[in-house]
Formats: sequence, C-alpha cells, structure tokens
Amino acid sequence: MSIRVEQISKSFSAYPALAGVSLTISDGEFVALLGPSGSGKTTLLRILAGLETAESGQVWFGERNVTADSPSSRGIGFVFQHYALFGHMTVAKNVAFGLDVMSRRARPSATDIRARVEQLLELVQLPGLGARYPSQLSGGQRQRVALARALARQPRILLLDEPFGALDAKVRRELRDALRKIHDDLGLTSIFVTHDQEEAFALADRVAVLNQGHLEQFATPEEIQASPASEFVTKFLG
Ligand SMILES: Nc1ncnc2c1ncn2[C@@H]1O[C@H](COP(=O)(O)OP(=O)(O)OP(=O)(O)O)[C@@H](O)[C@H]1O
Ligand SMILES: [Mg+2]
Repeated sequence: MSIRVEQISKSFSAYPALAGVSLTISDGEFVALLGPSGSGKTTLLRILAGLETAESGQVWFGERNVTADSPSSRGIGFVFQHYALFGHMTVAKNVAFGLDVMSRRARPSATDIRARVEQLLELVQLPGLGARYPSQLSGGQRQRVALARALARQPRILLLDEPFGALDAKVRRELRDALRKIHDDLGLTSIFVTHDQEEAFALADRVAVLNQGHLEQFATPEEIQASPASEFVTKFLG
C-alpha cells in the first residue's frame, strides 16, 4: 500500500520536531528513516501510526486519507525498539493479542487464532515456542515475537522503530535479513527507523534522511552515496 506524507509539521512546546515533511512511498517499498538523535524519526513514525497527531499536514495510505483515523483502524503493524511484549503472557498469547482484542463479530475463532499464531511463529522462525514466556527468550527471539505480533492482523504497512537497536551485531544482521525476506514475501510496505547508516543502506530500497525535523534527502542508497543532497548528508555519512 502506498504512503503519502504531505507537509507534516509537529511541535512540542514550541520546538519544531517536524517542519513540513513530505514524502511519497510506493506500494511494496522498504524505506529506512535515517537521522541523528532528535531529528524527528520516532515522531514521524508515530504520526503515521496515529499515535501522535500532527499540527498540520496529511497522511494518505493508498487512496485513503487516514490523517484523522485511529491507530487500530489504519491497518498497520508496529514494532518498537524495546521489547514491548507482555511479560505475564505466553508467546502465543502475545502474538494473538491483536486478534484476541477484536470485537466478537470480527474476531476469528479460537481454532483459527491458534493456527494463525503457529503460522506466524513459523514465519519468524520460532516454531513451537508458543508456550514460553518472554523472559525465557533471547533478545533476538523477543524481537521476532514482536514482529510476529505486529503481523497478526495482516497489515499492509509495517512500521518499525529501531527494532534491533538493543541487539548485538550478529543477531542484528540475522534479524534484518529475516525482516527483509518477510517484507518481500508478504508484499508489505515498510518504514524502518534507524540511526545506523550501514543498516539503512543494507536494508532499504530508499533512504529518507532527516535532520532537525527536515527531510534532507530521499533517494536510493546508491544515489545518496554518489550525490549527497546537502552538506549535512555529506557530513552525516562521514
Ligand atoms: N512527547 C514529547 N514531548 C516533548 N518533546 C518531544 C516529545 N517527543 C519528541 N520530542 C522532541 O521532538 C524532537 C524529535 O524527537 P524524536 O523522538 O522524533 O527523535 P528521534 O529522531 O526519534 O531521536 P532518537 O534517535 O533519539 O530516537 C526531539 O527534540 C524530542 O526531544
Ligand atoms: Mg526515536
């Protein structure tokens, strides 16, 4: 599903976190949002998810203006940096969460939910781990569970905010390869926040470089490396 961000601005107590950001993402694209701490990456992602309201501007998913829609009606999956798993629930219950909370009318049957959970655990390469608790998993496994949970309601759009930030380099690379494969296999449109340039360039079709709430450049890794659009981008890439 394509995503169109039009002139989004957002301030926190007069400080502009986003200043007129516009970008258009094609259906099926994998985009990395790259920028230093405080550049507005999380704020933009939260606005896309509907967890934060922009002061001005619009967000479109395909032909739908979702600017005023609630997070649950947007059809997105969201993965956060810190394992936001529920510690008192099994892995299976965590993955099923988005389905369990649906209204009785819309909710799949308990049998279908169980089958769907097992399918999702296979997708993230954790088959059979449904009965464990998050405390019994490694950090990488927890983020795989978080990814499975985000995919439970079959979103067309996946938003990830530094999902692998807390993991060591090897696990991080494994997970990012797994994520890219899932993105391709499911035909998702994904936005991945990172401040790691290597990760952004390795993963994404296009990279959006943010600086102090401004979009400095939005282009393929090759284009950005060949011709950085501003002094900031040149410096930031080192
Ligand atoms: N809830 C909030 N209240 C006040 N200021 C906020 C809030 N959320 C974000 N900000 C400010 O908005 C700016 C952008 O923050 P944001 O979290 O989007 O940055 P970021 O690029 O995600 O940074 P990081 O890489 O550190 O996660 C920062 O100056 C931040 O202090
Ligand atoms: Mg952030």
